[in-house]
Amino acid sequence: MDISNGSTRATRTLNNGAKMPLLGLGTWEARGEEAKLAVKYAIEKGYRLIDTASFYGNEHEVGAGIKESKTKRKEIFLTTKLWNSEHDNVKAALGASLSRLGLDYVDLYLIHWPVSKKRISTWKEFERLDSKKVRGIGVSNFTKRHLTELLKHAKIVPCVNQVEFHPYLYQKELLEFCTKNEIQLEAYSPLGRGAILRDRKIREIGENHSKTPAQIVLRWHLQHGVIPIPKTVRKERLEENASIFDFELSEAQMRSIDSLERSRHFVSDPEKYA
Ligand SMILES: NC(=O)c1ccc[n+]([C@@H]2O[C@H](COP(=O)([O-])OP(=O)(O)OC[C@H]3O[C@@H](n4cnc5c(N)ncnc54)[C@H](OP(=O)(O)O)[C@@H]3O)[C@@H](O)[C@H]2O)c1
Repeated sequence: MDISNGSTRATRTLNNGAKMPLLGLGTWEARGEEAKLAVKYAIEKGYRLIDTASFYGNEHEVGAGIKESKTKRKEIFLTTKLWNSEHDNVKAALGASLSRLGLDYVDLYLIHWPVSKKRISTWKEFERLDSKKVRGIGVSNFTKRHLTELLKHAKIVPCVNQVEFHPYLYQKELLEFCTKNEIQLEAYSPLGRGAILRDRKIREIGENHSKTPAQIVLRWHLQHGVIPIPKTVRKERLEENASIFDFELSEAQMRSIDSLERSRHFVSDPEKYA
């Protein structure tokens, strides 16, 4: 991924030929008017990748934010996800998401969690979805074990695997596996839900570059070839989190941040899905 001279509009080409922006906006726990305004303002500030899910209960507001931004739909890369209770009727779930979003298509539709005994048949349903309604299909919270199993059955290789990924959960092996199989890794909870921003080492590196801890952590993701989707509903943080394309972490700083790894999940460990 070329991140030199990049911006929120810079993209990475996925295995289906689609171009995915290098940085996005997360919307989990963003609700109502606040969610709509965050999406609208993010797009006005140059964000082109927006992440939601049927589970978040905010698809309506996310769709409204996109419309109110007055940016052409084709310039936005929108992701939504199939919730665990929706596996038995994928087509209807997608239809319901599109209707709540008020849009004709999503750029990426993800299986939210690798639900045991269902994920393979659900993936086959994903492969049959109308490509006019879903431009790309992928997975979320799939470990190397889940992906290895999926790849044995898949006709279409997922273009993205969205997983928890941050300095306290540096999933090096999974990243290497995804890279080898041309699956783009996308990082959720990239800021460790805010907790990592207090880390002494991250703060020191930030002082060195005159950058905030959030900017250091998000830049670390970019330099690993991972697409982060930090969530914020605050204007100043939207701008702060996007200002990560004008500096570079040294090899030593990257290794130093890598060494913070401690297998710490702030969300759930997907290994619990047998
Ligand atoms: N696929 C999945 O299973 C899954 C699971 C979890 C999350 N996700 C997606 O990934 C997105 C991001 O993950 P996340 O929301 O869990 O965590 P996150 O992005 O790591 O952290 C979000 C938290 O950090 C705060 N924050 C954001 N920017 C900041 C900054 N510059 N300085 C200080 N604090 C800052 C936010 O507060 P304010 O809003 O108040 O700024 C919020 O409390 C989600 O919103 C969702 O779209 C997907």
